[in-house]
Amino acid sequence: MKSIHTPYYVLHIVTSLLSVLLLLGINANAQKFEHLAQTPPMGWNSWNHFGCNVDEKLIRATADAMVKSGMKAVGYEYVNIDDCWHGERDKQGNIQADPKRFPSGMKALADYVHKKGLKLGIYSDAGWTTCGGKPGSRGYEFQDARRYAEWGIDYLKYDWCATEGLNAEGAYMTINRAIREAGRPMVLSICEWGDNDPWEWAAPLGQLWRTTGDIYACFDCEYDHGTWSSWGVLQILDMQDGLRQYAGPGQWNDPDMMEVGNGMTQEEDRAHFSMWAMLAAPLIAGNDLRNMSKQTTEILTNKAVIAVNQDKLGIQGFKYKAKKGLEVWFKPLANGEWAMAVLNRNNHDSKFEFRFRHEQVSDELSKRKINFNEEVFTWRDLWNKENTGDTKAFIKQNIKRHDVLMLRLVPAGKWER
Ligand code: GLA
Repeated sequence: MKSIHTPYYVLHIVTSLLSVLLLLGINANAQKFEHLAQTPPMGWNSWNHFGCNVDEKLIRATADAMVKSGMKAVGYEYVNIDDCWHGERDKQGNIQADPKRFPSGMKALADYVHKKGLKLGIYSDAGWTTCGGKPGSRGYEFQDARRYAEWGIDYLKYDWCATEGLNAEGAYMTINRAIREAGRPMVLSICEWGDNDPWEWAAPLGQLWRTTGDIYACFDCEYDHGTWSSWGVLQILDMQDGLRQYAGPGQWNDPDMMEVGNGMTQEEDRAHFSMWAMLAAPLIAGNDLRNMSKQTTEILTNKAVIAVNQDKLGIQGFKYKAKKGLEVWFKPLANGEWAMAVLNRNNHDSKFEFRFRHEQVSDELSKRKINFNEEVFTWRDLWNKENTGDTKAFIKQNIKRHDVLMLRLVPAGKWER
């Protein structure tokens, strides 16, 4: 009897189809350089303070200042040039830096920054032009990514102006693939302002995604530009609601670069920095690092607050309760520890009272709970370092207008480990 066997070419087609499907499946989870931004990226970006006024002198001096101010020592790493560094494309379509602003070229600048032990970031746009009207990467994605890789770029912020008719996920997939093919690990900062729910699709493509429109250096305001608005710290904070489950190592919600040192009061700067730490937000300074006041430096380099932001679990904090303009936030940390922040949104100083043993903190996302009747924590105030206590006693204290009280709670007996 003749045996029935599948012809070779059928098997071949089936196995090829399977491997294509398998590859697609694998790609959906492993489309980016995996080791990047395991904790929220820390650095500086030119836009908030300097706008289009960027040149190589500023970037060099900023890298110098990042080292000299102590920022590098506490974890700041990326020196990011935002919009308007661009010159024209050459005849082959290669993007060039503006020769007047960057006469030594980007490669030399990257070398300078790398020699300081820091990393260099750059900015482009998925559309035909950037928001500042410079050449965008539309149609040049692979060529641009290769160029950035040749220059030694480590971080790309990719904006969303002049993209009419483009699909956001598709456009960011293209630049993601272009970066991979260029072969140099680069953080991809997705900047489409949260318009297309990037938290739903951006994690396999980039390391951070903007969740809102632009920030503005005020604590509680909307700044109306006519066709769009930028937002104060409280407005942006409120817009983070419902997004924490999307954040984690290598994938961060980005409530925009910081405005610390750009004109708010010291209390407001401190509250802004603390809340960005609680949100596990990227800590990208946006001020003039060359001319910082002592207070601004102290805020940006507060190691204890940075440690909350950089906690290795990477769990974004949550609002536990709000009453009369005072909000209490918690953030689960490694080793059974917690961060707690109390934000005074009021335009006046407010009394805060908290009886730990009357509170039940429970976080469904991390499956962590605190029962203060069964477990005692000691706490330290992360801004006023003399202020300490434990959760057997209650807290009763004044919090200034637009200021914050920020604590680290450690299971009792563990501080001295
Ligand atoms: C957009 C971005 C900003 C900044 C500017 C540059 O508004 O959201 O962060 O990059 O463009 O033009």
